[in-house]
Amino acid sequence: MKKEMTGEEREKLAGIIHGYRGERRELIPLLQEIQEELGYLPREAMEEIANFLRIPKVLVWGVATFYNQFRFVPLGKYPIRVCLGTACHLAGGNLILEALERELNITVGGTTEDYKFSMERVACIGCCMLAPVVVIKTKIYPGMTPFKVEESLIPYKQDSLSP
Ligand code: FES
Repeated sequence: MKKEMTGEEREKLAGIIHGYRGERRELIPLLQEIQEELGYLPREAMEEIANFLRIPKVLVWGVATFYNQFRFVPLGKYPIRVCLGTACHLAGGNLILEALERELNITVGGTTEDYKFSMERVACIGCCMLAPVVVIKTKIYPGMTPFKVEESLIPYKQDSLSP
């Protein structure tokens, strides 16, 4: 988990919390809005929520980890979405996911230590004819194989892409 929030993140957090009344039922909307604004739920933010709503920190953490919509580390510069919808799953999406996990040394929901790559699984991105599919940032990689994984990451690792 990222250690500290930036000043900008703290300002955003204060602005969000300011818009709530401090009632327990606001927990999930607060978590959702913070994630939407910051892209993840920092530990400090969850502690502030607990203080603001006057509930135990462990309860905030428990609720946040129960739902897989929440993430606890920022997205990487190049977010990777691995499709595991039916078509991609049948075409070997799991093997692509495992190859990426090995190559980047992270698991689904994780971000590399240099914040360059993060990895998510998605249910379908609407181009099943191209299965199995991986999306790196906005570029679609059709017909992926575990062997193509390393090669497809090279330009991102070298940052030799046009913006
Ligand atoms: S299942 Fe992967 S694009 Fe539809």
